[in-house]
Amino acid sequence: MARVLITGAGRGIGEALTEQYVTAGDEVIACVRNPKTCEELAGGKARLQVLDAGSPESINAAREAIGDTPIDILINNAGTTGGMKQTLDDLDLDEWRRALDVNTIGPILIARAFKSNLAASGNGKLMNVTSQLAASTWPFGGMYIYSSTKAALSKATQILAIDWKEAPITVALMHPGWVKTDMGGANADITPSTSAAGIISVIAAMTKADSGTFYKWNGEIHPW
Ligand SMILES: NC(=O)c1ccc[n+]([C@@H]2O[C@H](COP(=O)([O-])OP(=O)(O)OC[C@H]3O[C@@H](n4cnc5c(N)ncnc54)[C@H](OP(=O)(O)O)[C@@H]3O)[C@@H](O)[C@H]2O)c1
Repeated sequence: MARVLITGAGRGIGEALTEQYVTAGDEVIACVRNPKTCEELAGGKARLQVLDAGSPESINAAREAIGDTPIDILINNAGTTGGMKQTLDDLDLDEWRRALDVNTIGPILIARAFKSNLAASGNGKLMNVTSQLAASTWPFGGMYIYSSTKAALSKATQILAIDWKEAPITVALMHPGWVKTDMGGANADITPSTSAAGIISVIAAMTKADSGTFYKWNGEIHPW
């Protein structure tokens, strides 16, 4: 049995991850912004924890509530597109700053807050969920907010993998696929369940030697 902490666990890919880990008999600390909306998450078998990834105070409060309990797997899944106004001519600067808090700064603060929990596992695994839109290979323009905040997360995660080289923690990045969620929309390629199953098997197979790797949900390596 593993103890797994998942952010943004109430819907979309995070919900599917929670359900699959719970079904496999793992203990899930399901971090959500509003527990009242997801009391039935995974049949009520996940431990709900309030955590707003855009708030350092909320991250610290969650760490305090969880205490020193070892965590085997931490998935920084919470994320935001940054809204609809993200072309050069129609750019919402407040949303850009908010998206930086949620997509970039939050996951790194969460990693820092729970480092000792991951180390206490002896074989901790940190998976930060980024996007193909963050890669230098993404060929389309627009989406300044989403692409830049996820690209910054990718780079910060690479730095974290270097900084934690001596820690018993594997640090990696995941593009979860184009997924049929509120964010991905109905025309996306794969279901949350397919994405989650892939992410779970990538994490299960990861070893310390894989730290710093950028994966796709299907186990392939994503180009940077
Ligand atoms: N869907 C795709 O095609 C796709 C592709 C590439 C990458 N991704 C990434 O995959 C991850 C999950 O995406 P999804 O498709 O499942 O998106 P989603 O259906 O829009 O769900 C987003 C999740 O993030 C949570 N969230 C947003 N802001 C938060 C905050 N400040 N603090 C804590 N939680 C917050 C939401 O919680 P609330 O319910 O409280 O709003 C929700 O649980 C994201 O990081 C996303 O960028 C998705």
